[in-house]
Amino acid sequence: MSEEQAASGLSWNERVIQEFRANNGRVGGMFEGAPMVVLTTMGRKTGKPHVNPAIYYKDGDRYLVFASNAGRGKNPDWYHNLLDSPQVTMEIGTDEGAVRPYATRAQVLEGEERDRYWELQCSLDPAFREYEEKAGRAIPVVALHPLDLGVITERSRMIGTQLLKHHADLRAELARVRAAVDETLTAGGADPRSMADLSEQLRKHCLTYCYGLQMHHIREDGSFSAFEKRFPHLVPAITRLREEHKVVEAALAEFEELLDKGGFQNPDDVARLRVELDRVVGGLEDHFRYEEETLLPALEV
Ligand SMILES: [Fe+2]
Ligand SMILES: [Fe+2]
Repeated sequence: MSEEQAASGLSWNERVIQEFRANNGRVGGMFEGAPMVVLTTMGRKTGKPHVNPAIYYKDGDRYLVFASNAGRGKNPDWYHNLLDSPQVTMEIGTDEGAVRPYATRAQVLEGEERDRYWELQCSLDPAFREYEEKAGRAIPVVALHPLDLGVITERSRMIGTQLLKHHADLRAELARVRAAVDETLTAGGADPRSMADLSEQLRKHCLTYCYGLQMHHIREDGSFSAFEKRFPHLVPAITRLREEHKVVEAALAEFEELLDKGGFQNPDDVARLRVELDRVVGGLEDHFRYEEETLLPALEV
């Protein structure tokens, strides 16, 4: 880890993830030479993307990860998150020299199968045995199954149906955020206290929306890898969709910063937010439509 990174104010996890992404999945220090993935789960309480590095064992087409939490007594947050929502995005280094995200479905291993793979992992990397002793609990073993669009199945069709549903939810939530902004603009002018209450509500609405959209795009970026493999003619369209995700992500980050500065003291602040909001979502409707037109026919939805 460079001095520059150490001085950057990032957390230990964030530094590892930054290094992982910059070096095609390789990380130095205590993880030198270890097979690593980065997992994104959905925060079960916040809805916010939760990102963490993990050591994996590749078993055929699936990837096994271990909820050791470095020997702490409690299971890690990412494990609780995937129990709640098993769609996990897994980033991994590739032969092309850059990390790629993959959509996976998580399955917790049970009984004899769990014990067998746990023993295998401890024999490959004795640090896991130490974690187990320190933690004093049976450490869960989770299999991640990457999305495979090789044959269009019930599961792939469900991905298409979910895409439509998520877009509908995001459109509805967006309408609510806009309504909340308008309400604040109309009602908040006269009374500073009601302005503060409304601002707080507005902030919650907006953050829920930001996190929901971020999660949606992270999961899509993962499934795009499977689409590109199965439908090479879609690569140019998917490249455009990925780029649009980056534009939206950058705009959301600015938007969140604006919210974090917080404290909408007067209607002017809310009016500025409204302009920013319109800017952020300007291209979103087009993006949703283009995505539906591109991906759904391939999934036979
Ligand atoms: Fe998208
Ligand atoms: Fe989408």
